[in-house]
Amino acid sequence: MSNVSQIVEAVKTVLGDKDDFIALHEPLFQGRENEYLKDCIDTGWVSSVGAYVDRFSDDLAKRCGVKYAIPTVNGTAALHIALMLAGVKRDEEVLCPALTFIATANAISYIGAIPHFIDSEEQSLGVDVPKLDSYLSAIIDVKDDGSYNKLTGRRIAALVPMHTLGHPVDMNGLEALAQKYDLPIIADCAESLGSLYHDKPVEAFGLISTLSFNGNKIMTTGGGGAILTNDAELAKRAKHLTTTAKQPHPWEFIHDEIGYNYRMPNINAALGCAQLEQLDAFLKAKRDLAERYKLAFEGLNGVEFVREPEGTRSNYWLCAIRIEDGLDRDQILKALNDAGYMSRPLWKLMHELDMYKSCPHMDLSCAEKLERTVISIPSSVKLGGALK
Ligand SMILES: Cc1ncc(COP(=O)(O)O)c(C=O)c1O
Repeated sequence: MSNVSQIVEAVKTVLGDKDDFIALHEPLFQGRENEYLKDCIDTGWVSSVGAYVDRFSDDLAKRCGVKYAIPTVNGTAALHIALMLAGVKRDEEVLCPALTFIATANAISYIGAIPHFIDSEEQSLGVDVPKLDSYLSAIIDVKDDGSYNKLTGRRIAALVPMHTLGHPVDMNGLEALAQKYDLPIIADCAESLGSLYHDKPVEAFGLISTLSFNGNKIMTTGGGGAILTNDAELAKRAKHLTTTAKQPHPWEFIHDEIGYNYRMPNINAALGCAQLEQLDAFLKAKRDLAERYKLAFEGLNGVEFVREPEGTRSNYWLCAIRIEDGLDRDQILKALNDAGYMSRPLWKLMHELDMYKSCPHMDLSCAEKLERTVISIPSSVKLGGALK
């Protein structure tokens, strides 16, 4: 059998020979979603404030091991505000992976800052800490007022790691590096809710972290996101900036700076409360599915299942396979999709996109390899079979 048909057969072993197309990631509503949504409609509290927003904020902070969570309209908005909170300004540079979803780089651009793309490593698919260290040691000048890129003269204002497909980055290594170069970490945890790094939620690392509750994530609020931090001042400012910078007043409209209407509506938070109650069951289902895929791909030539890095517990948001470099990725993608198993490559690397072609970047050979060799395969919670 060819590599291509072996891969399709392995997926079939796990998912069965279904007539209908199997999506990459579908949401699952098996809890109290209807009850909470009906409550919003019955009481009229569907919009930007309400008890579910407050509850979701508290539940989320507790779940993520941080003091404060500020729900937002989506994960991109959360990143945008998080970068502002960290003090990133126009014409400054922000280190972020070339291998990420577009939102990470776009949020940097919304401020007028410049993404500076960094490489990933094979196992975690996230930031390669030692490689970044040796790169930064060559280009960074640490001054009293911050770290500067010797090549461009611009301040490097922050570091934004992303836990790709749910697999945690080496956060101990990254925190040590961030300290060395005096860089705040804003962790893009959009894909990694429920993932642990040495038994600690990934959101609990860095100055600020952000989440997404888009419909394709491990749990959803329809659309939504959150800003998470342990810093009371930053949390207060996050709430202010996402609430049009309106000063509290019984009747006056006083906005003390240019703010954003980035609040998560109560109706979305209601969905979030119900979904969060099921997160442990979702995580269990994901692990079951990952285990079955791992077994199905064991012993096959030229392909392996992507496993969580050592010392971590991934949420396996998207299960993925790694094919041998040189195999025809698109031929495999076509065969899987033709067989009814929705499959996707990782993202086109940021520095290859027209609007980001001129941005600074380090050697990106590993990210380039990962782009050629990693394929995400159907990963919906319901495929895990552990919920029944
Ligand atoms: C890595 C990453 N960052 C940010 C986002 C943005 O989240 P949203 O779609 O909620 O704006 C997503 C997903 O959508 C993502 O995968």
